[in-house]
Amino acid sequence: MKLIFATQNENKAQEIQSLLPEYFKIISLKDIRCFDEIPETAETLEGNSLLKASFISETYNLNCFADDTGLEIEALDNRPGVYSARYAGPEKSAAANINKVLLELEGKTARNAQFRTIITLILNTSIFTFEGIVRGEIISKKRGENGFGYDPIFVPEGEIRTFAEMSLEEKNKHSHRARAFQKMIEFLNQLKI
Ligand code: IMP
Repeated sequence: MKLIFATQNENKAQEIQSLLPEYFKIISLKDIRCFDEIPETAETLEGNSLLKASFISETYNLNCFADDTGLEIEALDNRPGVYSARYAGPEKSAAANINKVLLELEGKTARNAQFRTIITLILNTSIFTFEGIVRGEIISKKRGENGFGYDPIFVPEGEIRTFAEMSLEEKNKHSHRARAFQKMIEFLNQLKI
């Protein structure tokens, strides 16, 4: 089954590909020669993933899905949330984002946080939504070299390592995105497309 994945992010495309059975043929935006700036102007993860999926489905008339993820930190009223990519500014620097979070959490002992992913799937104009959450906490100093984004400061529940200290396979056992994608895959399997 062919589905467009509405993302320009190569890290993510790789990660998702490794989670999917072979019979799902994921078509990237590059494959369909889409280099458009996809709108991400909503104020919630749900809103943004819907904007992205609708843009592709309406422009190309193809089945597709989009995801949006945020890191929600309890002590920061769930910030950076939907603004996770550009928390420290429009240049979307992971290092600057991490520094900003660590600074805001300085001296705070409650460091609970969660990554939350929302996927919006559009199949023949019907819209379906899937959510994946991983709870954990923010440590006070970066650890690990793998992954991307906030991985070096996030330790998932039940672990002592950060996501950045895990292999991609290990991260996928816990990850918000993996959980949301698993839900979508189960749904698609039920449809027997
Ligand atoms: P996106 O919606 O998947 O593009 O994610 C938005 C931002 O959330 C990214 O730019 C990262 O800063 C952060 N993020 C998303 N997923 C992860 C992850 O698995 N690890 C660390 N940071 C992430």
